[in-house]
Amino acid sequence: MAAVLTTTRLLGVGSYVPDKVLSNFDLERMVDTTDAWIVERTGIRERRIAPESMATSDLATRAAEGALEFAGRSASEVDLIIVATVTPDMMFPSTACLVQRKLGASSAAAFDVNAACTGFVYAVATASAFLSTGSYRLALVIGADTLSRITDWTDRATCVLFGDGAGAVVIESSSVNAPPGEILGSYLAADGTGWEVLMQPAGGSQMPASRETVDARLHSIKMNGNQVYKFAVRAMGNAVKECLSRCGLTCDDLDLLIPHQANMRIIEAAAQRLGVPESKVVVNIDRYGNMSSASIPVALDEAVRAGRLESGDIGVMVAFGGGLTWGATAFRW
Ligand code: COA
Repeated sequence: MAAVLTTTRLLGVGSYVPDKVLSNFDLERMVDTTDAWIVERTGIRERRIAPESMATSDLATRAAEGALEFAGRSASEVDLIIVATVTPDMMFPSTACLVQRKLGASSAAAFDVNAACTGFVYAVATASAFLSTGSYRLALVIGADTLSRITDWTDRATCVLFGDGAGAVVIESSSVNAPPGEILGSYLAADGTGWEVLMQPAGGSQMPASRETVDARLHSIKMNGNQVYKFAVRAMGNAVKECLSRCGLTCDDLDLLIPHQANMRIIEAAAQRLGVPESKVVVNIDRYGNMSSASIPVALDEAVRAGRLESGDIGVMVAFGGGLTWGATAFRW
């Protein structure tokens, strides 16, 4: 029978977070905040901070090595690397090229995707589309961010939210119709009219770096928290439903929801709207805060290694973020 290269499957998962823990109590000594406020409003208790010696590509490479080991594949077999990040090592070359070199994945095409905190979901959908053509066989998709480098540590409204980390998956094209880890489909969306709600204003072509931009702290994250909050609850619900419906499924079929970890109250409100019980939702925001593109793959890696997915289970990864962007990907484990 002729091979049908329309199926893609998750072969391996991996993640890496730096050792250094920054607790809410540490933050109490840095800005006017309290552990009680942060826990009640966000669910976050601590986050990880990368050492000066590590950039996003270093976190990404560690996560990728874990995913390759899980998949039982070597870097030389990888022919596509996509890194989702908003904190690349530098404006160019892409962080994916730096990861390619660090892994020694010399046969791989490499590029970055920027869809802010929805980046990993966008990158998985992109890799899946590339693999479905049959032109690529084995992809590494990495979500990695070092948000501590673009956080304003004097702004209590944002600095309590973010942390550093990386997660990765290995995806292969498959000629088998319903293999384990099958990616069933994705839904991606964007609304550029909301770009000002969440951004890093300076450092690009619109507002190049200058003494003034540094003095005005315009190289750090600026956010309208309330607007993001309202958008997020709507977007998560919409993305899960739309993605499942494109796969011929409903929320009743869902076994595990792996949401972007931005705020515990957003996760709870979205799950409630969807009628998904707490037991089916992966949460690690208490330990890591919001790691942007890394949140979902780190949560997925932890869920898999904790045995929370059984063969045949339906999982959905769902995210929202700057852009505005949102989206979801469904898979059968
Ligand atoms: N510690 C103590 N007080 C704080 C604080 C902090 N770290 N940050 C803000 N406050 C204060 C505010 O100044 C405000 O005080 P005021 O009433 O005297 O003006 C008060 O707390 C309430 O602020 P508000 O912004 O209304 O709080 P909130 O309940 O909306 O929670 C967020 C703020 C940021 C936690 C919440 O809006 C949120 O999570 N939004 C989504 C953010 C997000 O997901 N971003 C990433 C997207 S990928």
